[in-house]
Amino acid sequence: MTLYIIGIGLNDEKDITLKGLEAVKKCSKLFLESYTSKLQCDISNLEELYGKKIILADREMVEKNSDEIISETEDTALLIIGDPMSATTHIDIMMRAKEKKVSVVVINNASVLTAVGITGLQLYKFGKTTSIPFPQEGFEPETPYDVIKSNGELHTLVLLDLRPDEDKFMTVNEGLKYLLSIEDKRKEKVISEDTLAVGCARLGGTYKIKYGKVKELVDEDFGGAPHCIIIPGKLHFSEEEALEMYN
Ligand SMILES: C[S@@+](CC[C@H](N)C(=O)[O-])C[C@H]1O[C@@H](n2cnc3c(N)ncnc32)[C@H](O)[C@@H]1O
Repeated sequence: MTLYIIGIGLNDEKDITLKGLEAVKKCSKLFLESYTSKLQCDISNLEELYGKKIILADREMVEKNSDEIISETEDTALLIIGDPMSATTHIDIMMRAKEKKVSVVVINNASVLTAVGITGLQLYKFGKTTSIPFPQEGFEPETPYDVIKSNGELHTLVLLDLRPDEDKFMTVNEGLKYLLSIEDKRKEKVISEDTLAVGCARLGGTYKIKYGKVKELVDEDFGGAPHCIIIPGKLHFSEEEALEMYN
């Protein structure tokens, strides 16, 4: 039996690859990992194209109760928004399947990690990616700030927290405010209102990208989720030129 781990891309039902679609057609059960990103279409659009029902798989199901997904009796597919091995990797479930002697086929697709190339920033010049969690009482990690600092001349991709089950997605505005609040606490200059930043929303679909100073982006309306932020490092002139498209 085979477990297909299939990236379904960033936007809508049409972003699945032909290889992915062929695999979906072979499977008796389809699971959609529903907690690490957001598609720009309804699940019913996927079901219509696939001609099959989709079972939503939350974190608990994928990370702990994966027996139904890793089946020894039927071919199943785990659908992942974006690419299955980018940003959040699904290597764990692949290893669990191997332990159960279930063969695994991974079908790649576009990821937010590569879609940011549309800004004109060179992917080779990105440093470590970081993410901003929703603020909680007593838990305000400064990691994103430290990553931007240590990336130095390299660009930093900042992913933003999301809780799809509560329809809660962090916006560019909230993310920038979070970074400014850490700056206030630290009293050091890594991010300030004059730092240049790029706000991105819905890459791969009806995207909106805006480049400017933090103070110019902090109140900008980016529309629907998902959003991310890039803090550029040292810009090559060709990168600067490309970013002008998004002023
Ligand atoms: C865990 S990552 C997504 C991983 C996914 N497997 C992939 O390959 O793209 C989820 C975060 O990436 C960002 N993100 C994902 N898709 C995006 C998109 N299309 N446009 C902008 N940001 C996006 C958001 O910050 C979101 O909270």
